[in-house]
Amino acid sequence: MKPSLRPQCPDFSSGPCAKRPGWTPAALKDAATGRSHRSKIGKAKLKEVIDRTRSVLGIPADYRIGIVPASDTGAVEMAMWSLLGARPVDLLTWESFGEGWVSDVQKQLKLKDARVIKAPYGKLPDLAQVDPSHDVVFTWNGTTSGVKVPNGDWISAEREGLTICDATSAVFAMDLPWAKLDVVTWSWQKVMGGEGAHGMLVLSPRAVARLESYTPSWPMPKIFRMTSGGKISEGIFKGETINTPSMLAAEDAIDGLKWGEGIGGLKALIGRSQKNFAALAKFVAASSWLDFLASDAASRSNTSVCLLIKAPWFKALDDKGQQAAAKRIVDLLETEKVAYDIGHYRDAPPGLRIWCGSTVETADIEALCPWLDWAFAQVESEMKQAA
Ligand SMILES: Cc1ncc(COP(=O)(O)O)c(C=O)c1O
Repeated sequence: MKPSLRPQCPDFSSGPCAKRPGWTPAALKDAATGRSHRSKIGKAKLKEVIDRTRSVLGIPADYRIGIVPASDTGAVEMAMWSLLGARPVDLLTWESFGEGWVSDVQKQLKLKDARVIKAPYGKLPDLAQVDPSHDVVFTWNGTTSGVKVPNGDWISAEREGLTICDATSAVFAMDLPWAKLDVVTWSWQKVMGGEGAHGMLVLSPRAVARLESYTPSWPMPKIFRMTSGGKISEGIFKGETINTPSMLAAEDAIDGLKWGEGIGGLKALIGRSQKNFAALAKFVAASSWLDFLASDAASRSNTSVCLLIKAPWFKALDDKGQQAAAKRIVDLLETEKVAYDIGHYRDAPPGLRIWCGSTVETADIEALCPWLDWAFAQVESEMKQAA
């Protein structure tokens, strides 16, 4: 039997994520469209994004916050290209995005003194191996495996290296220990439900000191350049972006931040995501066919929740069969307009990935759960008929 209740919003994608509750294009009516981003109003809008970001996240006053080109990838690459090479680097990887940063460091920057600390999908690598005299590059929340670092206790307060953290599917939904993080990056389209376009780059004073004291041996594209004449380009961190940003996307980022402030700030944003995760976790705990990909409960993501299908008939399929069966579940739910974009990431083990970030309503997660059972039962019966 088909469940009678549908989620009001079927957007459960892990990026771009659901817009905030109540969002309509009218939220963008004050956008400085058609104006120069260097005009007074343009610069003020970009600075507003930076100021509200600092205030909502509680970012220390001496950390720089910049809006940069090319989304989270742009921000991470800008940081790696500008900062790495001064010391050995530890690269933590446990899913596709972390793997991408490893590949960049090894194959593009060709750093010899790079150590890869790796774990398979569903697990965290041994964080105790990180050497505080090395730089470290890591992803706070592995979006494609649903495994996050549980906290920053493994990062030394006395470290000599820099911590470079891709926090794109974590920030605003998880507590970040700013004092332990020297570089933090994210994009607008994740937890706050903004539009894809720009990246955010946060630098600690130690990261700025590195920028001002170290010049990499490789060429630096203009859109990565954060210094001029050996000094940090302060303008970037006041809204004078390196190149032209979208003022529409900036307005939307402001709208999201205002919404976050209105519901009670960071604590409320994190609370919403945790409540969504708890609703889904309750369903998974009682499920005969679903399980978490993340084996350790402490490192289970509360945003990009990745689920495995443990039903014996599914596990008996080969990889291609599993991919097809998982896709059939996803397609059925999409056809019913119940859930969009909940397929596993292409490199991850076959299953489902359901975004539980702050813009998602818990009632929608609860309404989705019976539909998951329905779609699974449909696919199970199709498989039995075909056999
Ligand atoms: C952990 C992580 N890093 C990087 C990216 C790439 O982000 P963007 O498309 O904003 O560059 C994503 C996208 O989902 C991600 O989840």
